[in-house]
Amino acid sequence: MLKCDDVEMVRLRVRGLAPWQTFTFTFTFTLSSMTAMSDSYRLDLTRRPRRMRRTSALRELANETAVLPQHLIQPVFVIDGEGSAEPIESMPGIERLTIPLLIEECQKLLKLGISAVALFPKLDAQCKSDDGREATNPGTLVLRAIRAIKQEIPGMAVITDLALDPYTTHGHDGLLDLSTGDLANDATVEVLAEMAVLAAEAGADLVAPSDMMDGRVGAIREALDGNGHELTGIMAYSAKFASAFYGPFRDAVGSSASAGTKSLDKRTYQLNPANRREALMEIALDEEEGADILMVKPAGPYLDIIREVREETELPLAAYQVSGEYAQIMAAAQNGWLDLEKCRDESLLAIRRAGADMVLTYFAKEYAKSLV
Ligand code: PBG
Repeated sequence: MLKCDDVEMVRLRVRGLAPWQTFTFTFTFTLSSMTAMSDSYRLDLTRRPRRMRRTSALRELANETAVLPQHLIQPVFVIDGEGSAEPIESMPGIERLTIPLLIEECQKLLKLGISAVALFPKLDAQCKSDDGREATNPGTLVLRAIRAIKQEIPGMAVITDLALDPYTTHGHDGLLDLSTGDLANDATVEVLAEMAVLAAEAGADLVAPSDMMDGRVGAIREALDGNGHELTGIMAYSAKFASAFYGPFRDAVGSSASAGTKSLDKRTYQLNPANRREALMEIALDEEEGADILMVKPAGPYLDIIREVREETELPLAAYQVSGEYAQIMAAAQNGWLDLEKCRDESLLAIRRAGADMVLTYFAKEYAKSLV
């Protein structure tokens, strides 16, 4: 933008007919001479892309990407009891909800056009154990939440995570193998398969194995089919990276507090953020094993992966805009450094533009409200 200084340096880049004819020149002029100059100087351009950006009606006609409430999934944190909602300090605007509050929230979401929620239970410390056995208790919190939603609001699609991190004292997603100190791949999947069947019985539409270990999707598909749940779908966390952006989520479900460390190291199972090819291999495996929806997570820092996956598969693709992506926009906005609505909308648009059909995002409800 020109400032009211006497003299402005203006740099123009003019594209000729061929790339080698591209040249750049710089010239100096005073503000008063600018009008005269723009009148007398004309570029001989056939293409002027700005024509289609001139008015908002034209811009809308040329708009390539839309973010609508139907594309969004609201993740919700659930707590037990009848008490009030609990704010989550590192996720301003997001609260943990009791089941009665969750029902009210789902009603509001549905009215706003959001018809899918992903549930994450936060358990009391006494329900956690080394082996996370609460995960297969038929009366566990998340199963009660699924049943309540399905009973009150059958039109709401319910997605539930299959991983042990909300249930284990160490905060890891699976069973620890004491001989290696690492997670036991195959023994954990047996528990996940049992969780899947319980979730399907409770009415979950989609189960979402999120531990990033091997052979999840195939084993869960088999368990579901073997128990008459052929129509329960699998949303696979296929390319989930070992990201530092999960920090606020771990506060929300208490997995880092129970582990006593802020930086849970999940690098023996989640993907190395440096690895693009390995992500594509994971995607291919989940597709072969029968996933109904593939997912890339986080979303914003991994837009290149979303795009590549979009081009590799015909399956629906989800992207998870994770807690840390939410927190960074909220924090900067609270400081007055970024415009909340504009940055929120742009972040979601970018994820859709990269190729995600659906986005799990903590902004879902507020975004949908802004469209009303
Ligand atoms: C756990 C799980 C995580 C998230 C969703 N499911 C965290 C983790 O892997 O530690 C992160 C979501 C977010 O950060 O919003 N299986």
